[in-house]
Amino acid sequence: MRYIGNKENILEKIFTILNAHGVHGKSFFDLFSGTTSVAKYFKKKGYEVHCSDLMYMSYCLQKAYIENGEEPNFTKLISSLNLKNDKVLFATPLEIVLEYLNHIPDVKGFIFENYTPAGTQYMERPRMYFSDENGLRIDAIRIQIENWRKLLLITESEYYILLACLIETVSLYANVAGVYAAFYKKWDPRAVKRLYMRPIEIIPNTKTHHVYCGNSLDLVCSINVDILYLDPPYNERQYLPNYHLVETIAAYDSPNIRGVTGMREYGNKKSSFCNPQTALRDLEYIVANAKFKYLVLSYNSEGIMHQEQIISMFSKYGNVVLEEFEYLRFKSNNNGLAKTKKHINEQLYILTKYE
Ligand SMILES: C[S@@+](CC[C@H](N)C(=O)[O-])C[C@H]1O[C@@H](n2cnc3c(N)ncnc32)[C@H](O)[C@@H]1O
Repeated sequence: MRYIGNKENILEKIFTILNAHGVHGKSFFDLFSGTTSVAKYFKKKGYEVHCSDLMYMSYCLQKAYIENGEEPNFTKLISSLNLKNDKVLFATPLEIVLEYLNHIPDVKGFIFENYTPAGTQYMERPRMYFSDENGLRIDAIRIQIENWRKLLLITESEYYILLACLIETVSLYANVAGVYAAFYKKWDPRAVKRLYMRPIEIIPNTKTHHVYCGNSLDLVCSINVDILYLDPPYNERQYLPNYHLVETIAAYDSPNIRGVTGMREYGNKKSSFCNPQTALRDLEYIVANAKFKYLVLSYNSEGIMHQEQIISMFSKYGNVVLEEFEYLRFKSNNNGLAKTKKHINEQLYILTKYE
């Protein structure tokens, strides 16, 4: 998924660096989990994983990718709807359910009414986040998933797996340059294709993993892990305004929205790591209060906390190593409409705490 700071493309690099420094263990906490790419990677490596994020959309991904450890069988739903799949031989139960969702009737709901041109035609500048057709598809699918859960036709894991499929799918059809702080004035070719739900990867695993939604600072005093991984925001751009629409599709809570972009309120989802006055203070709060063998901080050379400040603070608590490597990063500009590619220095701080 396109998400600011997604570490998907540098997971091997991070793992190699950690290995070279002897950073190993059995448990791993991804405290700013985002797309869960790092948590997924360590789950596959056999770790007992914990993860957390402020965003509800991230929580849905965490439930589906991390907490869930088995292929969903949708037994109750498939038998109650008498679903068969004549088109694909050997389709998985998830594929059968997605195929069903791909053909349910359209519904005019919150997404159509507020984020498509037909739904917002009364506005001076109608919103073009999704085509009219895809707005109707998203509402139909989101409402159907909720109804199945209310009727107890799907389990809690199956519910979050379907939400994760929807979250991953909508980003493939949104008429935006990566973030939702603005929409294109013309249709991107991807946005005019009819939306089809895609299955997510299921990561089978018998370990118990733990996922949380909320301010990660609230968890700090109860953390006791081998590797505590931190990937906080590195500049002043808050995540919620950049992904407000995905958050609304995930929560489907008909929030009050305003402005050209139809932004939801997000006062309770502001990160102190986007503020130069509080970022270092809260980083120190984590270092001082969480129990871990190794703390690994992903950051970069353009971050609002400076290298000297981080190293000097970490040094009070243990031995610090800094590794840096160049990384070609996707960058969308402030109003989200232009794309550039930029080399930045990705940093990995490794702190081994004094006993
Ligand atoms: C750089 S992104 C993490 C990217 C992630 N590692 C990935 O690969 O997708 C930072 C994340 O921190 C989350 N965040 C910021 N402040 C937070 C806080 N106080 N508690 C929990 N999550 C927070 C944001 O919502 C965002 O998802």
